[in-house]
Amino acid sequence: MKMYKYLTFITVLVLVCNGSADILNFSGGDKSNYTFPKEFFFGVSTAAIQIEGAWNEDGKTESIWDHLIHTNPDFVRDRSNPDVAADSYHLYKRDAEMVHELGVDIYRFSISWPRILPTGLANEVNPLGILYYKNLINELVKYNITPMVTIYHWDLPQKLQDIGGWTNAHIVDYYTDYANVLFANFADKVKYWVTFNEPMQTCLEGYGGTYRAPALDRHGIAEYLCTHNLLKAHASAYHLFDQQYRPTYGGKIGMSLDSNWAEPKANTSKDKAAAELYLQTHVGWYAHPVYSAEGNYPPDLIRLVDEKSRQQNYTRSRLPKFSPEEVVYIRGTADFFGLNHYTTYMLSMADGEVGKIPSHENDIGIVRVQDASWPSMSSSSWLKVVPFGFRRLLRWITKEYNNVPIIVTENGYADFSGVHDDARVSYYSHYLNALLHAIHEDNSSVIGYFAWSLMDNFEWDDGYVSRFGLYLVDFKSPNKTRTAKDSARLYASVVSSRGLPADYDPEDFTAFSAASKLVPTVLPVLPLLPLYRLIL
Ligand code: NOJ
Repeated sequence: MKMYKYLTFITVLVLVCNGSADILNFSGGDKSNYTFPKEFFFGVSTAAIQIEGAWNEDGKTESIWDHLIHTNPDFVRDRSNPDVAADSYHLYKRDAEMVHELGVDIYRFSISWPRILPTGLANEVNPLGILYYKNLINELVKYNITPMVTIYHWDLPQKLQDIGGWTNAHIVDYYTDYANVLFANFADKVKYWVTFNEPMQTCLEGYGGTYRAPALDRHGIAEYLCTHNLLKAHASAYHLFDQQYRPTYGGKIGMSLDSNWAEPKANTSKDKAAAELYLQTHVGWYAHPVYSAEGNYPPDLIRLVDEKSRQQNYTRSRLPKFSPEEVVYIRGTADFFGLNHYTTYMLSMADGEVGKIPSHENDIGIVRVQDASWPSMSSSSWLKVVPFGFRRLLRWITKEYNNVPIIVTENGYADFSGVHDDARVSYYSHYLNALLHAIHEDNSSVIGYFAWSLMDNFEWDDGYVSRFGLYLVDFKSPNKTRTAKDSARLYASVVSSRGLPADYDPEDFTAFSAASKLVPTVLPVLPLLPLYRLIL
């Protein structure tokens, strides 16, 4: 009896003291017999520079990532580079076969701009580049796999960076020309197009910071210029496709945005506002202009950047403005919302100035942290396993953007390698369970899901240390041998059964280490234990 009371007391303490996670529902849903709807589709994703290799073969020129790493090898954790990567340029037939083995419906891959247009401009189209992607597409179609093409997954031709890259307003035309070449050559067989992958990484981290190429670090200015041009380029490609290609070939076109879920750090109105502000000024920075009913940048972003710019004595706001015509031109330019999601953060308002001055971080003035006790043993330190965050984010997007069809274009887990990848099996099980609950209980409008990634690949600044693949790639072997991991079998079984395996346990997080069982907030309350005597 006493023990029972003690446990009840602990539970109450945990719930009272825990302002963030709904601990009883951490996994995003209980065990259920939900299955994925009939028309729901599954896929796997990759990106050109992360798998292709052949960085200077058959006419391809340097991308900004090739350039950054060739000139600064220390940028990458293991000083590796993507020169050869998984050698998919030569091994694409095996890649298509693996997609087929998984039994999925769609393969999402990206096209390398400098492989198609070595000068960056459409004056010279590289026939061998076109041939490579035609061959890959034909190989997929042979297996009845639908190709989904990401037009831009971060690998801008260095020649365009030399003239300002995404901060040069002419890039809107250059990008549209490039997209036009792709539509003209591939739209007969490619039925899904993604204009941009994670544009916030390109602009915020690449132009405003140093985490992504071109690592410009022109914070407070360049991330806003980059975003402005990029959104116009997106809309321009959408209209081109819609008017000139869709009538003949059909197909859908959208954008893939990255978003963490934002949980208020404490259960206070201030922290709730911080979490909402995070979503509005991060994923909303790109989503609001395209997916909201009113279009344009989110009002909070406009207000905050305008205000700060005034205080900082700038002649005009650092945030460029869309004309009313541009707002209309950009609004509604997507058939689906591509979402890349991996993890969750907790948000609170900053006490004083945060980040570099000026910068997007400083303009917004919020602080994000992760709960150290959230499960994870990932090689990517940011990748905490928080399935309920996935579910909440899907509900937020569905509501915020008026039931837009969501395609989860990326979701996955990184480890240090190995075919018996229990942690990845567990991650996918929990996130797919959360997704099933999102669909069936919250009416979140999700129509498809892609695992990141088909195979181990070049993970940017993490090089080959962080492995995201369903297939292990032996990067040391001359033919880059690919071997299915346990997670590949798990995913294939979900795809074929359209539900989770019978032995799935929503409360089991042991694969992420014994220490990270579901008791995240018990430890901080231990000093209060003597109090229980007063109550009992
Ligand atoms: C997002 C990116 O689109 C992809 O390139 C990257 O490898 C994964 N996330 C994992 O970090």
